[in-house]
Amino acid sequence: MAASAIISIGAYAPSRVVTNDDLSKIMDTSDEWIRTRTGIHQRHMALAEETTASMSFNAAQAALDTATMDAADLDWILLCTDTPEMWTPATACFVQESLHAKRASAIDLTGGCAGFLQTLELADAVAKTGKIVMVIGTELLTRSMDWSDRSTAVLFGDGAGAVIVAPDRGQGIQLTHSRTYSDGSQTDILQKPYGGTRNPIPPEIVAHGGHHRIHMEGRKVFRHAVQRMSQSAREILTDVKLPVDAVDWIVPHQANQRILTAVADALHIPMNKVFSHVQNYANTGSASIILALADMFEQDLILPRQRLISVAFGAGFSWGSAVWTVQSLPPTRFIGRDQ
Ligand SMILES: CC(C)(COP(=O)(O)OP(=O)(O)OC[C@H]1O[C@@H](n2cnc3c(N)ncnc32)[C@H](O)[C@@H]1OP(=O)(O)O)[C@@H](O)C(=O)NCCC(=O)NCCS
Repeated sequence: MAASAIISIGAYAPSRVVTNDDLSKIMDTSDEWIRTRTGIHQRHMALAEETTASMSFNAAQAALDTATMDAADLDWILLCTDTPEMWTPATACFVQESLHAKRASAIDLTGGCAGFLQTLELADAVAKTGKIVMVIGTELLTRSMDWSDRSTAVLFGDGAGAVIVAPDRGQGIQLTHSRTYSDGSQTDILQKPYGGTRNPIPPEIVAHGGHHRIHMEGRKVFRHAVQRMSQSAREILTDVKLPVDAVDWIVPHQANQRILTAVADALHIPMNKVFSHVQNYANTGSASIILALADMFEQDLILPRQRLISVAFGAGFSWGSAVWTVQSLPPTRFIGRDQ
């Protein structure tokens, strides 16, 4: 069967860094609590003039430039975010215009923290028909955060990532196999309830910023995340008949360090095969797996012929896993990467 491949990677992290100590000046928290509960040391926060579209453009242009590709070659822009530029039109349309991607059809998708793997599965199907797809995952979560909610506000950061997916010609990262899932019976455990048609925003909530509050039952989310990510990883390895020790790297959604450690334990995979930079970027939702991949390639951690497995979980619930085969090192540019 025809396959598709990631042929280029771009990533962008805003230049402003907010440490745990910085947060402890505006809320009742501490560096010690955040580090021990989540592994997070700092997060990147968009500057006032930045938006979801501008960060997405930076990542997408980096992916094009590093591969010396022309935006006019793109057939599709699929942009995954839970923090769009505005309700309508799609953030992807703003990016299409700034890239001058004149031939591209552009839409947004919302999949919580599993959104990138879900969007990539769709891009894979489109690319197998011969088309070239720019997949972007971007979150500007710090602008839609209730800063009085210390149990959630400390977990997230901003970032943007982009991968170009094309028919497989033996270069880059082959998208070997993927399985994603949703369970809409669990929408109440992790949600941002205000602002849509179900719960229009009451003025008294706006007055104290409560419309930005993410309702998250942390312990339940933790349990579901570990159970579903490890289960889907097992399923996909069975699908491709790959023993767990044949996996060179796990590239997980960077939720938090305790979740990553628990998933590795459940899969009996040593931690030195589980990539984490959650300490530097925190949870960047749809962007996080692309930021992780870009960081790994910039650090020369991944070699040709290695097998990668990616796992993700987020609101919905939605979750899934993907198996990727590295055929050659894709051109990669990560703007704003922590050295
Ligand atoms: C959010 C999470 C870190 C909280 O850790 P926890 O051990 O479950 O902590 P709890 O929520 O039970 O809170 C324990 C105490 O710490 C306090 N606390 C919460 N946030 C705090 C903070 N930022 N600083 C200091 N104390 C905090 C709570 O108020 C509570 O105090 P109490 O015992 O006096 O009531 C953890 O549940 C988790 O990792 N969940 C998954 C979240 C996630 O990654 N979501 C995204 C998935 S894609």
